[in-house]
Amino acid sequence: MTCRVVVLLSGRGSNFQAIAEASLPIEIVAVISNRPQAAGLEYARARGLTAVALDHTQHADREAFDSLLADEVERHQPDLVVLAGYMRILSSAFIARFDGRLLNIHPSLLPMFPGLKTHERALAEGIKIHGCTVHFVTADLDHGPIVIQAAVPVRADDTPATLAARVLQQEHRIYPQAVRWYAEGRLEKKHGHVNLKDDLTSQSVFSTGT
Ligand code: GRF
Repeated sequence: MTCRVVVLLSGRGSNFQAIAEASLPIEIVAVISNRPQAAGLEYARARGLTAVALDHTQHADREAFDSLLADEVERHQPDLVVLAGYMRILSSAFIARFDGRLLNIHPSLLPMFPGLKTHERALAEGIKIHGCTVHFVTADLDHGPIVIQAAVPVRADDTPATLAARVLQQEHRIYPQAVRWYAEGRLEKKHGHVNLKDDLTSQSVFSTGT
């Protein structure tokens, strides 16, 4: 059975694009954005996918908006909900409703640098290895069980933009991989950790690339 995926995004949508273009055993049944102008929605329409804009600025508070959003997501009967640059904190009611089938990508090696401006903060700390993480979403912001991480070198002449670009290349590699594992039913949770069935080696990617 094909895994039905709903994508939530707010902007550019390059991670969504990487997932849509990878050949995965999934069907993207809807792409939903809280920002009507998101480039990711344009791309979804161009691919003939169902693209939905739900403008959060038209709703009084987070709870009201998230309850509407959850209803819209549920309408598409997803097996998996993929956050791909969805730039709003989700209410705990939303997260509870999709518990265990909600994935996110974060541009740091969690638990380092949860929250925003991860590349700026990494450079400010002078760390030498940075990266990205795909994790299950829990009510604890950017702290859910980790599925896969990719590490990249930090260079002395990096700016937030050059570092972000290096990390993004790896995001485009690990997010489709995580979605594939989920769709294939290969992700096992044990003691709050995510392991890959029958494989103890491949939940980490090391890049030396530019
Ligand atoms: C990515 O860096 C992702 O890690 C973060 O937001 C950014 C979204 O980029 N959560 P895109 O919209 O997928 O291009």
